[in-house]
Amino acid sequence: MNAIVVVDSRWAIGCEGRLLFSLPTDMKRFRSLTLNGTVILGRKTLDTFPGGRPLPKRRNIVITRNVDFDREGCEIAGSPEAALELAADTPDDQLWVIGGGSVYTALLNKCKRVYLTKVDAAAENADTFFPNLDKLPGWEIEATSDPVAENGVTYRFIDYINTKL
Ligand SMILES: NC(=O)c1ccc[n+]([C@@H]2O[C@H](COP(=O)([O-])OP(=O)(O)OC[C@H]3O[C@@H](n4cnc5c(N)ncnc54)[C@H](OP(=O)(O)O)[C@@H]3O)[C@@H](O)[C@H]2O)c1
Repeated sequence: MNAIVVVDSRWAIGCEGRLLFSLPTDMKRFRSLTLNGTVILGRKTLDTFPGGRPLPKRRNIVITRNVDFDREGCEIAGSPEAALELAADTPDDQLWVIGGGSVYTALLNKCKRVYLTKVDAAAENADTFFPNLDKLPGWEIEATSDPVAENGVTYRFIDYINTKL
């Protein structure tokens, strides 16, 4: 299983239920990496998608404590562990944790890789964060891309590997 995430220079990922940056090249990469796979996400992240709809051409497993939650095109899991059980038949490299903060934190230790997009800017008023992999034991950088400049910011794709798995 992998996680995929955009962070700012302070490892922030969101503010008031929104993303911090609009990065078209990153969005294309996200789509092509996750397409035809299974994505695991929190209910709040689902609600940030247009119309609250699941991502097309992917199996969407949504984690919520609300036992009555029902959304067309989504499979519902009552916990991160239940989400993994639902996804047990997905090949490891096609299973993606896509946020948000609470779901990344819950499942990070079970991820083999994190496909990180690191923006060279600090967003103001961020309220949701990703764990700082540079300070967590067991995480090493496997690859770093050249910088991409877009919409007034510069960012790089940095792939981290979990050496404990
Ligand atoms: N930068 C990025 O790459 C990226 C990616 C994704 C999201 N984000 C941002 O992250 C923010 C959202 O993150 P978030 O942490 O607030 O919300 P979240 O993780 O998307 O969703 C939280 C919800 O998931 C459910 N949940 C979480 N842990 C659970 C557990 N152990 N058992 C059962 N249900 C559980 C609960 O749903 P119920 O309330 O329904 O019970 C909880 O309210 C937004 O700002 C979003 O834009 C950023």
